[in-house]
Amino acid sequence: MLLYFFFAVSTAATAFALNFDYENIQLTEAETQDYPAIRFADLANPLPRKECRAIPGDDDWPSDADWAQFNETLGGVLLKPVPLAAPCYEGALYNATRCEQLKRTWSNIGMHSNDPTSIMSQWASGNTCVPTSQPNSTCSQGGYPVYVVDAMNVRHIQLAVNFARNKNIRLVIKGGGHDFNGKSIGGHSLSIWVHNLKSLIYHPEYSTSTYSGRAVALGGGTQAQDARNLMSRNNATILTAGGANVGLAGGFFQGAGHSGYTSYYGLAADHVLEINAVTANGRLVTANADTNSDLFWAFRGGGGGTFGVVTSIVEKAFPQTAISSGSITFSTIPSRTQPTANLTTETFWAGMKAYWEYAIPICDAGGLGYNFIRHGANPTRPDVPGLTYTVSISLPGRTAAEYRSFVRPLLERLSEVGIPIAIPEIQTLVMPELDSDQPSHPLARRAPGDTVGHTLIASRLWPRTNFDTPSALQTSHLAIRSFVEDGGYDFHGMNYAPTLAVSGNPDNAVHPAFRTTVMHAQGYEVGAHWDGSNVITWRDITPGSGAYMNEGDMQEPDWKDSFYGSNYPRLLQVKKKWDPYGVFWAISGVGSDEWVVYGSGGGRGGLYTQDGRICRA
Ligand SMILES: Cc1cc2nc3c(=O)[nH]c(=O)nc-3n(C[C@H](O)[C@H](O)[C@H](O)COP(=O)(O)OP(=O)(O)OC[C@H]3O[C@@H](n4cnc5c(N)ncnc54)[C@H](O)[C@@H]3O)c2cc1C
Ligand SMILES: *[C@@H]1O[C@H](CO)[C@@H](O)[C@H](O)[C@H]1NC(C)=O
Ligand SMILES: *[C@@H]1O[C@H](CO)[C@@H](O)[C@H](O)[C@H]1NC(C)=O
Ligand SMILES: *[C@@H]1O[C@H](CO)[C@@H](O)[C@H](O)[C@H]1NC(C)=O
Ligand SMILES: *[C@@H]1O[C@H](CO)[C@@H](O)[C@H](O)[C@H]1NC(C)=O
Ligand SMILES: *[C@@H]1O[C@H](CO)[C@@H](O)[C@H](O)[C@H]1NC(C)=O
Repeated sequence: MLLYFFFAVSTAATAFALNFDYENIQLTEAETQDYPAIRFADLANPLPRKECRAIPGDDDWPSDADWAQFNETLGGVLLKPVPLAAPCYEGALYNATRCEQLKRTWSNIGMHSNDPTSIMSQWASGNTCVPTSQPNSTCSQGGYPVYVVDAMNVRHIQLAVNFARNKNIRLVIKGGGHDFNGKSIGGHSLSIWVHNLKSLIYHPEYSTSTYSGRAVALGGGTQAQDARNLMSRNNATILTAGGANVGLAGGFFQGAGHSGYTSYYGLAADHVLEINAVTANGRLVTANADTNSDLFWAFRGGGGGTFGVVTSIVEKAFPQTAISSGSITFSTIPSRTQPTANLTTETFWAGMKAYWEYAIPICDAGGLGYNFIRHGANPTRPDVPGLTYTVSISLPGRTAAEYRSFVRPLLERLSEVGIPIAIPEIQTLVMPELDSDQPSHPLARRAPGDTVGHTLIASRLWPRTNFDTPSALQTSHLAIRSFVEDGGYDFHGMNYAPTLAVSGNPDNAVHPAFRTTVMHAQGYEVGAHWDGSNVITWRDITPGSGAYMNEGDMQEPDWKDSFYGSNYPRLLQVKKKWDPYGVFWAISGVGSDEWVVYGSGGGRGGLYTQDGRICRA
């Protein structure tokens, strides 16, 4: 026992070491002596309370000379980027060739992800600078930051946090830029761009006081593709997003992080062992089960851009775990070659119900049912609404033969209702290819007019109790049918179940509704006005459940319950303790109701755009 105790202590101590060289480059007290703007926070000497953050033109906005001095202290990594679409507008930057290129590639998320300020969800910027065919219109900075620190080390991040806090400037953090609601931009702000903190190391043996085994250390800007490549070289698996450019140590794990292994291993947030972050006072801290455990709890599920700037994380890795998958499709749209096309509307929905009866078995087998119901034109049968269902069912840790016997009862049931489906072609992959991120999202729609990236979505976690009796299942089935038929929306469901048991009983801030769900459902705008009321029926039939903040609607009426559930009060305490200054703010983040952004979208009832001044509520 005694030996074990010493062993545990010594391994815990090694785990406190920083992960990467860039984390050893830190701001020193000495450097701050003659430069008050970059001093660390001192609770004994509070800053004056201002009602609003400063914006350019205000008396307290730093002068050009101040910015130049700040840039010099940063060693020149301060950027002042124009919006990505600026070459489409008259003026010094006008470039017709570049503009045409931008129009063609605007839906490529990778392009936005890798830009210092651009993001996928353009609407959140206020659409003040989109690729246009009217170069005489105006391009303005809108919701995009004014200055960006292209962080290469911890010192750069500390300088940015201290400068923004001391100078009363709005601060944002941009990672992979995939947030659907504009959480990684902010008008009149200083942004910390973590994109270049991309180091990553695989540790075949890693020990903490609670874990010993494979792990991987990821820099704050690591994207899914980087980690996937490292893992396949080392015959190991970690939980990554499906989109190649999603920031793993950014929004993904901080929001929860689902993957093809959700019902098998749990969520990304469930397997983070340590977090290094610069907090609101400018200090670098390590958070793990033994140190700063309140912060450690909050970071894993409490949402990005709220508790600090993550410089690196260590995450548990798994043995290489192959996934067998295959897909099934059926449709009301005629096709000469597809026996499962040209269905009547009633047969289509009978097929849907047969699938829903299989939702729980898929989850309980550790699998994922990744599905879509899409609208489409039905020109030869205009009286029959065009609907196509596609589901990819994937099962980690199963051979092709096991897969076949698993799906057989579902196929028999579909055949009974008039949808004769052959055993799908099965792929067994050790590391599934990631979605190349182009086009931006399988269901993304363009707004009318010039190219604007508009992805407005909503999310709901449907509990097991909505599927586990015939009557509950019928109610769920009808609610989905009505959403598609009466609402005219496209539907995206993910049948998965990250129960506490499969996730290893984690104690973290992930919404408790994830532990009882068997379906994360999303709805998408299909041209119609999206005002948050679209999924009301879903909320009504899933009382007490929640929504996935990373794929949710910022107009959620009860957003604290929807995105955080019973964790909210404790998260707010952690937020107040670690960020009493309100340095970090993100739309629908913990404590975000203490501030309001006066954006052009108008807020609730309109859109929460980031192109305005931020003031205390
Ligand atoms: C194509 C696509 C595929 C997706 N696939 C999945 C999926 O398979 N599973 C899943 O769970 N989700 C998925 N998502 C949702 C994704 O998890 C969220 O959009 C997530 O917020 C993205 O994180 P990011 O760092 O790339 O984005 P950003 O927009 O850069 O950041 C999101 C939030 O995190 C903060 N942040 C970023 N970096 C840091 C950092 N280093 N420290 C502190 N805060 C930081 C930002 O300030 C912001 O608040 C997908 C999204 C898209 C668009
Ligand atoms: C910061 O300094 C670098 C190097 O001198 C320079 O290239 C860059 O343009 C400066 N940034 C700003 C915003 O002036
Ligand atoms: C205009 O854009 C094209 C395509 O990106 C580029 O090759 C060219 O150099 C640009 N022209 C100018 C004057 O910058
Ligand atoms: C911009 O140019 C278009 C023609 O290309 C014209 O119709 C429009 O009125 C102009 N707008 C402004 C603000 O000058
Ligand atoms: C990974 O597995 C392959 C095939 O089994 C083997 O050849 C290779 O050496 C392994 N690589 C590592 C880093 O273990
Ligand atoms: C589709 O069904 C209709 C009505 O049953 C039939 O007339 C038509 O020939 C079918 N089309 C195809 C391509 O099978």
